[in-house]
Amino acid sequence: MSEKPKVAILGTGYVGLVAAAVFAERDFDVLTSSQNKEKVDTINKGKAPFYEKDLDDLIEKTVSSGKLKAVHGRKEAVLNSDIFFIAVGTPSLMSGEADLSLIKETAIAIGEALCEKDTYSVVVARSTIIPGTTRNVIIPLLEKYSGKKAGKDFGVCMSPEFLRQGAAVDDTRKPDSVVVGELDERSGEFLENFSNQLYEGLDVPVLRMGLESAEMVKYGRNTFLAMNISYINEMARIAETIPGIDIYEVVKGIGVDWRINPVFLNAGCGYGGSCFPKDVKALISFAQLRELSPLLLETVEEINLQQAAHTVGLARQELGGNLKGKRIAILGLSFKPETDDMREAPSIKIANHLFSEGADIIAYDPKAIPNAKNNFIKDTIQISYAETIGECLKDAECCIIVTEWDEFKKLTADVFNMNMKRSVIIDARRIYDADFRKEVEIYKGIGLGKERSE
Ligand code: UDX
Repeated sequence: MSEKPKVAILGTGYVGLVAAAVFAERDFDVLTSSQNKEKVDTINKGKAPFYEKDLDDLIEKTVSSGKLKAVHGRKEAVLNSDIFFIAVGTPSLMSGEADLSLIKETAIAIGEALCEKDTYSVVVARSTIIPGTTRNVIIPLLEKYSGKKAGKDFGVCMSPEFLRQGAAVDDTRKPDSVVVGELDERSGEFLENFSNQLYEGLDVPVLRMGLESAEMVKYGRNTFLAMNISYINEMARIAETIPGIDIYEVVKGIGVDWRINPVFLNAGCGYGGSCFPKDVKALISFAQLRELSPLLLETVEEINLQQAAHTVGLARQELGGNLKGKRIAILGLSFKPETDDMREAPSIKIANHLFSEGADIIAYDPKAIPNAKNNFIKDTIQISYAETIGECLKDAECCIIVTEWDEFKKLTADVFNMNMKRSVIIDARRIYDADFRKEVEIYKGIGLGKERSE
């Protein structure tokens, strides 16, 4: 195997930092750059600047082995590397379009550094970007600031990532595939070789294609998965009106069809996170700019919005049609378990609805309370936070399960019965079984029709 290229990862968010740590674990020399000095110091002390399962240990290990180092300057990272990954954020603008300002800044910095390099190197766009961005935004900036020609003096690829938060380290250690969008044959060859070295001994196929197709693959996967979730949430609402139906049983029956994958058909209180909401919005706005009406994607988004309101509606129904002054416990704030990330978390929408109806809200989450405080304060919601599950449930008239953390799954009905004023449970993640349901005063699950009364 030839010598390993040195790697620069520009961006230290979930995508960048997890890749940096995993690449370093696989024995590559990795420099990761951040504009935030505090983040750089934290990483160099062997710590992750945010919570992600297994990441702290991995950073500790790779920083102390000398394989991973964080630097403040992008230029320093690029000058000392052979392959550079652009892994900065592309948040949504008010219009739904992705904000490309960090992408542009990074491309300019790489261009300036490329100007001083005389060996062939490859720039890889890894951030989620709308089709055409690599060719029409990134390459012109690289060429302008380097004075060099893409495809001749340096290579360019686009390679999206598909990691899930909470499982980001494992997903990066062994992805199902590596998608390589290439400007030209040589660029693609370089990234394919890099991927083969990175995943040597693992079965990770490389799929090569054009730049724009690779950009679209990312949107294709995420919007398809978001569509699955909105589909099953709509089915769940229909199911709830029919005694005897359980949407989770129905999915078992649907999912045995070899053409359908049941993994992302868990009905709940809607999807959140840093990807699905943003990517659905971005593709809608991309299509609208091309004078198309993306009806399906608009509906996916609308159903997702409604699902949070629907969850609160279930609580209202069980509490006599009015939530005013009622103490409601929320278990789970992060948008999914094993992360402290609150971006677009369904809990925010649910808390907003509860607050606007005058409920007295108390919430508990094992990891996300510090982040939740920022989000909720911004949204000017009055909410109290509990330090334990018991404190959260104490004297509540209703409890909504919003995130399926393992510690909630282990709770017995007794914990609810003993602490709550009335054990009215709205299970928006369907974590409790039939025995539990019988033991609490009222149980309502998303997608669960009323008990048949014969
Ligand atoms: C997602 C994609 O899975 C990943 O490939 C991409 O790179 C980034 O976006 P992530 O946002 O980390 O990953 O989490 P994911 O597990 O996909 O869940 C997203 C949201 O959908 C969560 O709020 C989750 O609760 C919800 N969800 C997921 C459902 O409501 N039902 C499901 O069946 C699956």
